[in-house]
Amino acid sequence: MDQALTIADLKDRARRRVPKMFFEYADSGAWTEGTYRANEDDFHKVKLRQRVLVDMTNRSLESEMIGEKVSMPVALAPTGFTGMQHADGEMLAAQAAEEFGVPFTLSTMSICSIEDVRSVTSKPFWFQLYVMQDKEFVHNLIDRAKAAGCSALVLTLDLQILGQRHKDLRNGLSAPPRFTPKHLWQMATRPFWCLDMLGTKRRTFGNIVGHAKGVKDLSSLSSWTSEQFDPQLSWKDIEWIRDRWGGKLILKGILDEEDARMSLDSGADAIIVSNHGGRQLDGAASSISMLPRIVDAVGDRMEVHLDGGIRSGQDVLKALCYGAKGTHIGRPFLYGLGAGGKAGVRRALEIIRKELDVTMALCGERDVKNLSRKNLHTDL
Ligand code: GLV
Repeated sequence: MDQALTIADLKDRARRRVPKMFFEYADSGAWTEGTYRANEDDFHKVKLRQRVLVDMTNRSLESEMIGEKVSMPVALAPTGFTGMQHADGEMLAAQAAEEFGVPFTLSTMSICSIEDVRSVTSKPFWFQLYVMQDKEFVHNLIDRAKAAGCSALVLTLDLQILGQRHKDLRNGLSAPPRFTPKHLWQMATRPFWCLDMLGTKRRTFGNIVGHAKGVKDLSSLSSWTSEQFDPQLSWKDIEWIRDRWGGKLILKGILDEEDARMSLDSGADAIIVSNHGGRQLDGAASSISMLPRIVDAVGDRMEVHLDGGIRSGQDVLKALCYGAKGTHIGRPFLYGLGAGGKAGVRRALEIIRKELDVTMALCGERDVKNLSRKNLHTDL
């Protein structure tokens, strides 16, 4: 793993180790993938302000996200099918995050269940909630996250219906995979992945199977979301979700100043500026381009985080300079996981930490908490 120097190196390794349908599930956006690309491209447009002859000793990346101490302000984002990038993927990633001192967020659409992740971790992790039409099931999910000691609920707002990702349809994505010649070939050409997968019983959606009633076609994400997700989710629902949960609440998927202002009255502790990694509304603005305006809209009345397009510690730094108190990475840790399990996730975090640290120093800063727009040259 030490030879992987960038997140792109981990991505190359993951491509060689993970069956195509799962690798491409991570490496895809909706329709033209324009927003998926813009999330990354717009980070490159932000220019850093180089400073010299500044004491660079005793640097610190430590910070807080929603009041929790973090070794750097980078959380692992909730991602579906994580246990299909590598056997027991969510459990391994949660352990890597815990050892590194950053938050791990378990997705509702995970392969390992809330209880599985709880059984291999000792510090609280975060749980991401999708709201289904079956409210009893949602209540049950919230209660299970509470029982597992999760310290934050991340409520996703931008996926009441699923954006179309052409690759998933072409690949016939499902968990467990179907045994058609195409799928068998994809797996046969990834023997290490298969060997690991044979060693686990976790091969479908662990939070759902055995817990949700009347789920007819779980394996296909599109049919399952269209049958089960609640298309009527509204601001009013936040209230009962917040009351039932009773702990820290993060709203994920805010990309508009007006929505950001509306979230101020929701009682949430933080919002995540996000377009779901370009996987939902293709043609929407990139996350980083919306961040400064959203930070200005909410001022210091609420913590603002960002996800989408982060591929380096430099991207993390740019988001922090624009006022994000935390960032969330999805694909970078998935590529690490696919490339090498827990060691690969650790490597992804190490790469980002080093890039963040060196960049901060060369910008003339020693404490990640002091980063601000003064460290950048241009406004987007
Ligand atoms: C689910 O959250 C997805 O984006 O596939």
